[in-house]
Amino acid sequence: MAHVIIFLIVAYLLTFLWNPIAILAAESTNRSELDRRGLLYFKQGLNDPLGVLSAWVSLDFCSWKGLAGQLSQSLANLTSIVRLDLANNQLSGGIPDELGTLPKLQVLMLASNMLAGNIPGSLGSRSRPLSYVNLAYNNLSGGIPHSLAACPSLTVLNLTSNSLSGTIPSSLFNGTSSKLAVVNLRANLFSGSIPEFHKNNLSGGIPTSLGNVTSLTQISLGTNQLVGAIPESLSNIPNLTMLSISYNDLSGHVPTLLYNISSLVILYLGQNNLTGRIPYAVGPNLEALDMSGNKFDGLLPASLANASKLQILDLSSNLLAGQLPVEIGNLAFLEMPNLEQNQLVHAIPIELGYLSNLQMLSMGQNYLSGGIPSTVANLSGLFLLSLSGNRLSGQVPTGIGMLLPNLNELNLKNNYLTGSIPASLANSTQLVMLDLSFNSFSGSIPSELLDNPSLSVGLDLSNNHLTGSIPPEIGALVRLVLLDVSNNKLSGQVPSSLGHLKAISLIDLSQNKFIGQIPEFLGNLKLLTQLDLSNNNFTGPIPTTGIFQNTTAVILDGNIGLCRANTTNFATIFSICPRISTGGTKNNNARLLLIVIPPITIALFSFLCFMVTLLKKREHIFPCYKETMKKVSYGDILKATNWLSPVNKISTSRTGSVYIGRFQFDTDLVVIKVFHLDEYGSLNSFLMECQVLRNTRHRNLMKAVTLCSTVDLENNEFKAIVFDFMANGSLDMWVHPKLHQNCPKRCLSLGQRIRIAADVASALDYMHNQLVPPLVHCDLKPSNVLLDYDMTARVGDYGSAKFISSDPSSPKEFVGVGGTIGYIAPEYGMGYKISTGCDVYSFGVLLLEMFTGMKPTDAMFTNGISLHKLVSSAYPHELCKVLDPYMSQEGNNVFATLTLQSYLMPLVEVALLCSMDLPKDRPGTRDVCAKILEISEAFLES
Ligand SMILES: *[C@@H]1O[C@H](CO)[C@@H](O)[C@H](O)[C@H]1NC(C)=O
Ligand SMILES: *[C@@H]1O[C@H](CO)[C@@H](O)[C@H](O)[C@H]1NC(C)=O
Ligand SMILES: *[C@@H]1O[C@H](CO)[C@@H](O)[C@H](O)[C@H]1NC(C)=O
Ligand SMILES: *[C@@H]1O[C@H](CO)[C@@H](O)[C@H](O)[C@H]1NC(C)=O
Ligand SMILES: *[C@@H]1O[C@H](CO)[C@@H](O)[C@H](O)[C@H]1NC(C)=O
Repeated sequence: MAHVIIFLIVAYLLTFLWNPIAILAAESTNRSELDRRGLLYFKQGLNDPLGVLSAWVSLDFCSWKGLAGQLSQSLANLTSIVRLDLANNQLSGGIPDELGTLPKLQVLMLASNMLAGNIPGSLGSRSRPLSYVNLAYNNLSGGIPHSLAACPSLTVLNLTSNSLSGTIPSSLFNGTSSKLAVVNLRANLFSGSIPEFHKNNLSGGIPTSLGNVTSLTQISLGTNQLVGAIPESLSNIPNLTMLSISYNDLSGHVPTLLYNISSLVILYLGQNNLTGRIPYAVGPNLEALDMSGNKFDGLLPASLANASKLQILDLSSNLLAGQLPVEIGNLAFLEMPNLEQNQLVHAIPIELGYLSNLQMLSMGQNYLSGGIPSTVANLSGLFLLSLSGNRLSGQVPTGIGMLLPNLNELNLKNNYLTGSIPASLANSTQLVMLDLSFNSFSGSIPSELLDNPSLSVGLDLSNNHLTGSIPPEIGALVRLVLLDVSNNKLSGQVPSSLGHLKAISLIDLSQNKFIGQIPEFLGNLKLLTQLDLSNNNFTGPIPTTGIFQNTTAVILDGNIGLCRANTTNFATIFSICPRISTGGTKNNNARLLLIVIPPITIALFSFLCFMVTLLKKREHIFPCYKETMKKVSYGDILKATNWLSPVNKISTSRTGSVYIGRFQFDTDLVVIKVFHLDEYGSLNSFLMECQVLRNTRHRNLMKAVTLCSTVDLENNEFKAIVFDFMANGSLDMWVHPKLHQNCPKRCLSLGQRIRIAADVASALDYMHNQLVPPLVHCDLKPSNVLLDYDMTARVGDYGSAKFISSDPSSPKEFVGVGGTIGYIAPEYGMGYKISTGCDVYSFGVLLLEMFTGMKPTDAMFTNGISLHKLVSSAYPHELCKVLDPYMSQEGNNVFATLTLQSYLMPLVEVALLCSMDLPKDRPGTRDVCAKILEISEAFLES
């Protein structure tokens, strides 16, 4: 108890000290101290003794509507402010013109708010010292003001992820006077925590004048609608380290000199309409080159091999042709005639340097022919190798896996490869996905290959000429989600060890020569959602349990020896033994279903289009403070996450980045949350998470594997928490697949939704009623509900949580509480004490969201309409109109009257009660939990 209180006091002090307003650095005059305090008071919702900021305080604390006008009056008086940092404060409204008149303002940091309207032209002024402007992650619209050109000291202009439109003003870049170093006008497609509207819409060309600004180091213009050619002038920028112009409509040739800029580290040109050849030479410091998704053609020049620092090379989806160079391990792409199909011709330029730093090599979807050179195995740091969709022939180099210990994905799909599958791949102990489908591989499936429990995402050997039976070693793949060996010549019986694949979701054995009975144990695989056994020689009775109860999930046609038992669901299609086939779902559909993959696949492998800034590689190892369990060092974390590679990063928020990785001493995937300690509140959030993790134990709460608290290479504090990997991602992904690149494509069934609701309710009941002192989560929302491999829900992210202590010295108001708009109770900011009722409110919103598929922050919920009001107006008689149309129920119409009355209405009723505006109208957690569990049990029994 005592340590909890001490912790809370420390946390409280930290909240105070780390308040963003405290970062307002002003000159050390009395006046500026008063400015600072005024802002502090404002932030805490206390009285504002100076009256400077009293106008800001509004009861509508959540959105601070009406900020704009009042901010302007107050700001004009803050004459000594040098640095204004109000990032991540949920500020809305427009940016006041008066900001431009602050005479001493150097740093303007308003990133990650909800500011709308135009960027005021007043910001640009010849007489002001403005040097840093960061308005990233807002909803600003209109054009980029020309006047910014006038700021003589401007070095950073970061407008990424807004709704800006118009052209990039050419006059912004004045070669003679500009000190500009960083220009970021990119939209951010991929960050999980960023809402969809963050898309800049800049059009027109890249101004030639940009190349006059020799002080530039970083240019990001990606994900806009820029057209025209890349100006030659950009090659004149001597110290450029990053040029990112992916995802535009740029065309024409890339200026050759651009590749040669010696300072260049990152060059992203992907997903445009660029033409020409792959460069002969690139700058010596280049680490990432993305030219994917363009119209580059021709052969690959050998000299590219001199780019010895290259870590990422993505040339996929172009028109590259000719023989894949022999010495790809040296990346020596020989200019030689196309020796079609003659993989025996090897010209080996041994003098070429090894690209030993390469982590990702992607050349899929081109017209490359010839063999895969054996030297590919020299790329020992390789994480991903994709050569799919080419015309490669010959054998896969033997021993390939032996030398690629870090390989996570090998994709050779859709080529003309022959020979046997290399058993040496068993040595790639990090391999999670192996796709060799649509080739001409022959021989049997090597049993060694299957003795590789890291294979978790998928094993696709379909559409080859494989023979023999499935080795019993397949049982070792206990985490495998997808298994496809369809359309081969496999024979024999299905091994009983297949029953060990507890995580398997899809099995396709179709179009082979399997014999014997369909094993009963397939009915026991709980996560199996698709099973295709069609066009084999299976005989005997069809099992009746598990997946076999769902006729649409199982394809059996083309097995002339199958018969049905009396009770089977196939009764309407099959008749009693012998000689019946389902004729049910078309075979082609089964192919399509292969697309059903869990979020991890997307997380790990959609990164061909997911190239973000490569983080600096750090190799030193520092010991970590051992908290509870396994000791992990900073070095372990670096290695587990591929040096915090963007490839491993699955989401970012302000306080931390989340990576997927695997420690060398362990086989399980883990999730590593690395805290951004330079961000306000991040340390607090780390401390709070530790506190909660140490004191809780419940099946529906996230558990930490271990903690890491140390310093990094530059002696900065480094803090991370390691969690178990949750194979099915967050609830948010499942409720809003559209917001997550349509992944996962599966929809939650009614039963799954009820179970998740029950899990979350149990977690809340535990936190509120079983812990002493009770714990309030304060930030319950679908993205903080994680789903394990069996869809068990676990509540995570306790960064905003608070223990409710009876001690009077602990904070009870919403001081410094995080929370998310849409989910946070309306009493937030009205002087109410933190209570479990806040979580009940968030839970109600979460339930409404889960059953309607609508986000409470959807744009339609304005002008007094809320998700609660919408549902409540439809309740009970028109409920169907607002329920998620994608909600399914095995074999039944989910909107049938009985289902509605028995489950959906009671659930929605609970949700509506929980999300009442007034705390006193909401039921207690215990009652909520009991009710949900009762509904859940009734559902299970039916
Ligand atoms: C700002 O300063 C002016 C004059 O210095 C004063 O008249 C005005 O009341 C001040 N405004 C606020 C909001 O303090
Ligand atoms: C732009 O601002 C965002 C938000 O603060 C930040 O994450 C990003 O690193 C900045 N980009 C550059 C190039 O400074
Ligand atoms: C560029 O800056 C210089 C020096 O401040 C100024 O004289 C010149 O007019 C500017 N050029 C343009 C096109 O604005
Ligand atoms: C800047 O670039 C433009 C277009 O390339 C050119 O016409 C102009 O002379 C350059 N100005 C300076 C000051 O270098
Ligand atoms: C480029 O960097 C070098 C070394 O840091 C520096 O001396 C030089 O002034 C820079 N050039 C420009 C145009 O900023």
